[in-house]
Amino acid sequence: MKKNILKYFNLEGKTAVVTGASYGLGKAMAVGLAEAGADVVVVSRKLKNLSEVKNEIEGLGRRVLPLKCDVSKITDVKNIINKILKEFKKIDILVNNAGITIRKEAVKYSDNDWDRVINTNLKGVFLCCREAGKVMIKQKKGKIINIASLMSFIGGITIPAYSASKGGVALLTKAFSNDWAKYNINVNAIAPGYFKTPLTEKLLHNKVRYPQIISRIPMGKWGKPDDLKGTVVFLASEASNYISGHIIVVDGGWLGR
Ligand SMILES: NC(=O)c1ccc[n+]([C@@H]2O[C@H](COP(=O)([O-])OP(=O)(O)OC[C@H]3O[C@@H](n4cnc5c(N)ncnc54)[C@H](OP(=O)(O)O)[C@@H]3O)[C@@H](O)[C@H]2O)c1
Repeated sequence: MKKNILKYFNLEGKTAVVTGASYGLGKAMAVGLAEAGADVVVVSRKLKNLSEVKNEIEGLGRRVLPLKCDVSKITDVKNIINKILKEFKKIDILVNNAGITIRKEAVKYSDNDWDRVINTNLKGVFLCCREAGKVMIKQKKGKIINIASLMSFIGGITIPAYSASKGGVALLTKAFSNDWAKYNINVNAIAPGYFKTPLTEKLLHNKVRYPQIISRIPMGKWGKPDDLKGTVVFLASEASNYISGHIIVVDGGWLGR
């Protein structure tokens, strides 16, 4: 029989869950997974924010289930896992993308600022991994993709909690990979560079920082959310079956400079 590598990228029949899928990178990755054939559960704090991504995925002829959940709250996370299992009976792919940032000098950072960022970006990833992991361990199969950042490798400027949270996401990825590889669960991360989304809106309009950042990117441009589709589909698919505990940097060359 003729071999065809492209069939390993096909996600037909798979159930994917994407947190923070209402806009930005999460929305693009949810649509990318649907383009590759997956049915997609799209998650965010507000159901009304999910209507656009729901329509796009339905337009591709895939099933879509929008769910409201604050990933930092265990009751919300358990609630969506129950709903997903009721509707789809399994979870093949989990993309932990939901994230926020608060940009302030450390001396002005309140306890509440710190807690909000860490609870969303780090505790949220832990809770979603743990609860979906229970399902995947029973299935003896699963793909988890955490969204890290360049700030998983460097400290950034005026984003202490964000950098701490993303450093944590990188090592949480490796910790879960170590524990769960034996259950046939691949746990990897994507570290995006600078992408144009609502999260980075202020930086885009910062007359000092924006030119500094552009001049530091070898490709000379920011990423578009669609630039992540190929990487997320690869890590969600059988094409990456022997990769685990890895962080793929998608940054136009920034980190290598
Ligand atoms: N943009 C970049 O350049 C860049 C670079 C590196 C890493 N990242 C990471 O990529 C991820 C997505 O970033 P983005 O730029 O696309 O951000 P964004 O445009 O601000 O989108 C963030 C998403 O997360 C959701 N969200 C926020 N808090 C949540 C919570 N507690 N529970 C559930 N959903 C929540 C938001 O939806 P609702 O408001 O509807 O809840 C939204 O869908 C983040 O983890 C970010 O740190 C981004």
